[in-house]
Amino acid sequence: EEPLEILVTAGGTREPLDPVRYLGNRSTGKMGHAIADEAARRGHSVVLVTTSGLQTHPAVEVVRVETAMEMREAVDGVSPDVAVMTAAVADFRPRQQAPAKIKKGEHQEGLRLELERTEDILTELAGQRAPHQVLVGFAAETNADLAQARAKRAAKGVDLLVLNDVLEPGAGFESETNRVTLLHRSGQAEPLPLMSKEAVAHQILDRVVQLLATSGPTS
Ligand code: CTP
Repeated sequence: EEPLEILVTAGGTREPLDPVRYLGNRSTGKMGHAIADEAARRGHSVVLVTTSGLQTHPAVEVVRVETAMEMREAVDGVSPDVAVMTAAVADFRPRQQAPAKIKKGEHQEGLRLELERTEDILTELAGQRAPHQVLVGFAAETNADLAQARAKRAAKGVDLLVLNDVLEPGAGFESETNRVTLLHRSGQAEPLPLMSKEAVAHQILDRVVQLLATSGPTS
């Protein structure tokens, strides 16, 4: 396997409300860290942009971030051969971040939050992709609808979309295992059996190498 520059995003972003609170999600970063580790074991050069503090293979270059904006800035500086975007990036963030802790005494009637959209990092990457770059997206769904997923793959402009139904037992957040369906450019949906996240990482990296082989040399 020819050594590649691989970018991986991982973990759930945290969008601050005030200095002590944030809007977050259940992603732990395990799937992304498994991909980064496996890619490093294969001898690739790996940049992992992550919100997670999980241990990684010593050869992985780790960039720790918290918010969608920080993740985007970290990704902006990298032009990889392959990008595998496993992060659960917030779609919305509080429009304003309170400079001091929000006090309940000042909000007796309850608190109304206004949220604004975050930037879509993967769509931005796809918009400026180099000819032979391979992009892999993840979609965590709570109802696996293939027609919707095909539309999402095309809209995101990725070569491979990895679908997982996060409500399925043994799959998704906080799990050691995952059951995914790979959605290819051809529209073909390839369901994989339940396996460890390391084994899923293997499968995904094998597909990436195949995609690069069919799309020609990287340089
Ligand atoms: N993604 C990203 N930046 C965002 C949102 C998502 O890079 N601001 C990436 C994720 O890392 C993942 C894929 O896009 O690879 C998920 O796509 P998307 O469908 O936008 O996320 P969902 O929240 O599942 O979308 P929807 O709300 O439409 O179901």
